[in-house]
Amino acid sequence: MSKIKKTFQALQNIVQEPSLLNLVLNDKDVRKKDFLKKYSHLETLPQINLLDLSGGFDETVDICFLDGASLPTDLGLLKTLAKGKKSYFEIGTWRGESVWNVAKVIDDCTTLNLSKEEIIALGIDKKYAELHGIISKKNPSILHLEGNSKTFDFGGLKKKYDLIFIDGDHSYEMVRNDTQKVFQNLVHENSVVVWHDYAYNPEKVRYEVFKGILDGMPEDFHKNLYHIQNSLCAVFMKGDFKTEKFQNLNEPEFLFEVNLKIKK
Ligand SMILES: C[S@@+](CC[C@H](N)C(=O)[O-])C[C@H]1O[C@@H](n2cnc3c(N)ncnc32)[C@H](O)[C@@H]1O
Repeated sequence: MSKIKKTFQALQNIVQEPSLLNLVLNDKDVRKKDFLKKYSHLETLPQINLLDLSGGFDETVDICFLDGASLPTDLGLLKTLAKGKKSYFEIGTWRGESVWNVAKVIDDCTTLNLSKEEIIALGIDKKYAELHGIISKKNPSILHLEGNSKTFDFGGLKKKYDLIFIDGDHSYEMVRNDTQKVFQNLVHENSVVVWHDYAYNPEKVRYEVFKGILDGMPEDFHKNLYHIQNSLCAVFMKGDFKTEKFQNLNEPEFLFEVNLKIKK
């Protein structure tokens, strides 16, 4: 098909289905170009190897391997970071997998999610709404809060948290919103903040999320941001860490041993 015919066909499709425009606006390369206009000096975060972070990575995680689930390495990372910490706050519960795993290390865990009513009002499947917290609500010590992180009164919690996981709406605007709210209200001097979906996969950065992270936090703190290798997570933490330059095609340095066992 010629370019003119393709353009005509594409325009016709957009007129019939205007939401197709989002495919163009959200295209990965378009997002990356937009990102580089502002952050050309910071194309990717420095990476920390899981072994260098933990001194020996050995975690067991509970995972359901269903839609929207984190990688086993993401959950293992959260458990590793949770060690020695006393409080955890999370935006984005979904089935409750991440908070369920962290609650095995930290007693004081809180997770915030849109209410069932708000999810249904957005026109999303009722079954999806009902599945929220299906795993985490089995642990009565986890505090489940309902609210939209856009309007939720984070300051009203009057509390700072040791470990915070931002894993709600992954659009640029909402990642920026959630990051701003967390840095304005929930962090103390030594808090560690983790963002899920900084990357589509461990070798491919998700630029709208990365831009939301950078724009949402004080610029002074950009130097404390890292990508943890083999995970989808970006982490804010203070300290000196051995880092490596991000590469999008890696020779594996080691293998993970994964034992799969079904538990009821
Ligand atoms: C990717 S899932 C979270 C996965 C979970 N952290 C885990 O690893 O098991 C994102 C969740 O964020 C919730 N969410 C989306 N937008 C939100 C908002 N504005 N405020 C609060 N929660 C939101 C969705 O309902 C969904 O449950």
